[in-house]
Amino acid sequence: MELMAQQQEVRYWLEKRRAILLAHNYQPGEIQDVADVLGDSLELSIKASQTAAEVIVFCGVHFMAETAAILCPDKTVLLPRTDVGCCLAESVTAPKLLARKAELPGVPVVTYVNSTAAVKAESDICCTSANAIKVVNSLAAPRVLMIPDQNLALYAARHTSKDIEILTWEGWCNVHDGLSVEEVREAKAAHPQAPFIAHPECNPEVLDQADVIRSTSGMLSYVREAAAREFIIGTEKGILHRMHKENPGKVFYSPSRRLICRPMKRMQLEDVIAALKENRYRVTVPEDIRLRALKAVERMLAVPRD
Ligand code: 13P
Ligand code: SF4
Repeated sequence: MELMAQQQEVRYWLEKRRAILLAHNYQPGEIQDVADVLGDSLELSIKASQTAAEVIVFCGVHFMAETAAILCPDKTVLLPRTDVGCCLAESVTAPKLLARKAELPGVPVVTYVNSTAAVKAESDICCTSANAIKVVNSLAAPRVLMIPDQNLALYAARHTSKDIEILTWEGWCNVHDGLSVEEVREAKAAHPQAPFIAHPECNPEVLDQADVIRSTSGMLSYVREAAAREFIIGTEKGILHRMHKENPGKVFYSPSRRLICRPMKRMQLEDVIAALKENRYRVTVPEDIRLRALKAVERMLAVPRD
């Protein structure tokens, strides 16, 4: 089926099912173009918690749809594919976290939303790349364990205004962590006028090269408002689709051909149509886990955003 017809079919089924389509900034362009809401993890969680729609179709990776299911137990949350995991979220399990917590009695756990519901349920508070520093600053403890992204934890440790020790976990995103300083230096040499904007999941040496460090939506507002005309974008390439669309006349460069999140790229329009027609694949969270995970997510949402 031709692209426009497929997109029309998605809209038809969304209306018929009283559904809303939420899509992450890394999704393929044709999915972004048909979504009701595009955003980073934090924005999509907030939107999921506020929507009046009966069905939420989540185009992203598994933990994102699970977060929507944690926030909206009365709604049907559909993830159109089953093979869309996040390697970072998979780097920690609830039993592994419980074992580490036993070694650190009384130390609060700050958990990046890129994690399973079972892990969130064993955590004190969640954070996203957009609010990690604010979340850490909101805590009174002298020491916290920040999981699973080591790079995000090191970034928060460097930028917190609190006198707080941040213990890390051995986890990272293969896509962001794989970006090298050499690739960034080459991109900067090729485009000397372009500021380099990095995602906090990048490794510390790459973050040292950054002019600004932002979540995906933070990057979008930065490039919209900046006077610069060219930018080097240190995150997954899918975001360039939205950047081009929202900023005609500005130019965006990716510093590496490897900045591609395969699970994000698996999602196709036909998966979304099938999800709506066949009510698949419903994401649910057992109620005891959901309630405990919800506490950690709600504690995060209560941290003032500005
Ligand atoms: P954002 O919350 O910045 O969109 O990041 C999510 C993610 O998975 C980054 O790799
Ligand atoms: Fe997970 Fe990395 Fe993909 Fe983000 S880019 S969803 S952290 S694998």
